[in-house]
Parts: sequence; structure tokens; C-alpha cells
Amino acid sequence: MSTPYLAVIGGSGIYDIDGLKDAAWQAVTTPWGDPSEQILTGTLDGLRLAFLPRHGRGHVHSPTDVPYRANIDALKQLGVTHVLSVSACGSFRDHMAPGDFVIPDQFIDRTVNREKSFFSKGCVAHVSLAHPTCTVLGGLAADAARAQGVTVHEGGTYLAMEGPQFSTLAESRMYRESWGCDVIGMTNMPEAKLAREAELHYATVAMVTDYDSWHPDHGEVDVTEIIKTLGANSTHARGMIAGMPARLGADTGCDQGCATALDFAVMTAPDKR
Ligand code: ADE
Repeated sequence: MSTPYLAVIGGSGIYDIDGLKDAAWQAVTTPWGDPSEQILTGTLDGLRLAFLPRHGRGHVHSPTDVPYRANIDALKQLGVTHVLSVSACGSFRDHMAPGDFVIPDQFIDRTVNREKSFFSKGCVAHVSLAHPTCTVLGGLAADAARAQGVTVHEGGTYLAMEGPQFSTLAESRMYRESWGCDVIGMTNMPEAKLAREAELHYATVAMVTDYDSWHPDHGEVDVTEIIKTLGANSTHARGMIAGMPARLGADTGCDQGCATALDFAVMTAPDKR
């Protein structure tokens, strides 16, 4: 495996990284426009690390308006090999409680208003998304979070909704009861799809802030409730990130083909691209 270069895409409540050596905010331009923000680069315990606040510093991009293609392209340009996505989510399961971390391994994409591919006119490619996350990277993040005392659930289905409004009660019940989803959020799609197209190892840490609206013993979700849990969640996320260099450095590599996703995906003839 080539020397890993880890990017952290931080969600609500995470806007920088502690302890980064030689830290500098870098502007990166892409054919897809500007990323959400300049990218903070440096080294953490010897591991090259890039940090991108998904919503921008000051939380200025809504989930719909996050420039997902520019974000992934910018990280790829920097030479990033692994992307650890961190975001807040609602839970559809009693045992996935606020404060817990979930490392989903499946997604259902219900977003409708976002650019979802680098491939369209000019070069057509169809990557596999049967297994949309890197479970090796996810496992390392789970281990690092557990070392912080966090309850971590490995595996689960993340429903990506468009937002910005939260779900209706009928939607919340349908996602939970009929569709078998475990958590819900607004940002992991198309991020995961684009990371696969860019041949990056991608894992996501969904930090539970609420029970969405289905739970009979909890009221409907609102931002005040989310912010209450975000503080503790982001402290744990910072600890988890600090634990990644030792784990990723010792990793023997993934055999899921994350880094070779395009090998059998491109349809367009070489002379037509
Ligand atoms: N982010 C945090 N909680 C959420 C919820 N209940 N629905 C969608 N996104 C969320």
C-alpha cells in the first residue's frame, strides 16, 4: 500500500483539527468550482492529514449546496488516499443512542438536487457501489473512537435525505420500519459515490444527535436538541481523529478494491474520451 494520506471531512460541530504540525490553509481550485472552504493541511504524528470543513468555516453551505464534486476533486489533487467523513445523524434504533457513533456500511440515497458523478458527457463510467464504504478504514475509526470511551456500532444503513427540513413522521416511520434504515443524515451522499469514483478509501462516522421524529418517548427533532449533543460528540470525534495516525500507519491495507474502482468501470472508448 502507498503511504496513506488521510483527509477528514468535518460536519456540523467540527471546523478544525487539534495538534496539526506545519498547518496551513490551502486554496485548491477544481474544474467543478471551489471546495466548501480552503483545506487545512499538515501532519499529525507523522501522518499527512488534510481537513475540509464540509459546511465551510462558519457553517455557510446547506447540505444541498455543499460542492461535493469540488471537495472530492480537491482532496484527490492534494494526493489524499483515505477519506474519513464525520457528520451528525438521527437514529432509527433505540440502541443507537445520542452520543453513540455509527459507522454505516450501506446507504440509501434519497437526495434529489445534487451533482452525483464526475462522469457524464465525454467519458462515461459506472463504478460498483455494492459495498460503498471502506470497512478497513471504518474499523480503524471504530477502534479509535472506542478508545475515547464512545459506544460504536459498526455497520448499518444510512438514509441520505435532501433536507434542509427534517423528515415528516410518516417518512421517519417508513425509513425505519419498511426500509430498515438505521440512521439518517443529509450529507453522506453523493460524497460516498464521488469518493468511489475518485478511487479513494471512504468511511463515514455518523455521530448520533437525536432520534429523528419516530420515537414515542422523544419529541420531534430540532436544532437545539442537536446542538446539545454536538458538543460532546465533537470532543469525542477530535479524540478519534488524534488516534488515527497510529492505526492507519500500522494498517496492512484494504482488499475491497476502493483504490482500483475504475479498472472495470469506463465505457467510453479511449479515442473518444
Ligand atoms: N442530522 C442530525 N439529525 C438528523 C436528522 N434527524 N435527520 C437528518 N439529518 C440529521
